[in-house]
Amino acid sequence: MKGMRKRITTRGANGVVSAAIVCFFLAHGLLGSLQGFFAVPSPATWIVWAGMVLVGIHVVLCIATSFEQLTDTVRPPSVQKKRHLALKWATGIALAAVVGVHIGRIRTLGPIAALHSAEGAAWTIALAALLASHIWTGSKSLLKDLGIDRSWRNAVRAGACAFAAVFSLFALAHVLG
Ligand code: HEM
Ligand code: HEM
Repeated sequence: MKGMRKRITTRGANGVVSAAIVCFFLAHGLLGSLQGFFAVPSPATWIVWAGMVLVGIHVVLCIATSFEQLTDTVRPPSVQKKRHLALKWATGIALAAVVGVHIGRIRTLGPIAALHSAEGAAWTIALAALLASHIWTGSKSLLKDLGIDRSWRNAVRAGACAFAAVFSLFALAHVLG
């Protein structure tokens, strides 16, 4: 169909929302990691919750794009594609579970006790690792949905791992320091 490429697709919308939450939560993790070492602005809780609304929209769009892929009779997904989609769901759901623990601990213990203890550091490392795994798994489709050349995939993956390493090191430094 003419003009097809310019149509806003569910995948395109999910790509934009996904890119936004990747940037938002990497920045949130960085600010959160630096808290206690430097006088970083403690972002008002509502800003983080505005990011969480975007995560909610992301999950809804993912249900729609998954449904589209699985019911595509013109180009049915290969076994490999289905496996990859399952991996995206597995890492996304695992991430959501540990984010739940993150929020629960901060709300009950307060951010300092929740994050700057040995147990808190372990949870932060798990959170950082799952965030990186989910971005790693979604990197190929993210670039495709945004119309960016897939040669950037390794850069996205390396970036996600670098952030996870920084979050983990700061989490340990909070316990040891
Ligand atoms: C901060 C939280 C999150 C970030 C940064 C994030 C990031 C991403 C990225 C970059 C992609 C690839 C985007 C694309 O295909 O255009 C993606 C895809 C996906 N995400 Fe997330 N995500 C998050 C949370 C979640 C959660 C909580 C779930 C599920 C409970 C989830 C499930 C999925 C699924 C199923 C896909 C694949 C969609 C498809 O292939 O059509 N994500 N995510
Ligand atoms: C691994 C890196 C992360 C670190 C170091 C971190 C750190 C923090 C810190 C320090 C706070 C407290 C802010 C304050 O009240 O001063 C906070 C709150 C919060 N974080 Fe994270 N965070 C990380 C990842 C994430 C991710 C991936 C999500 C969600 C996708 C998330 C969601 C939230 C939410 C919703 C709150 C507000 C909780 C409340 O209602 O009090 N965080 N985080």
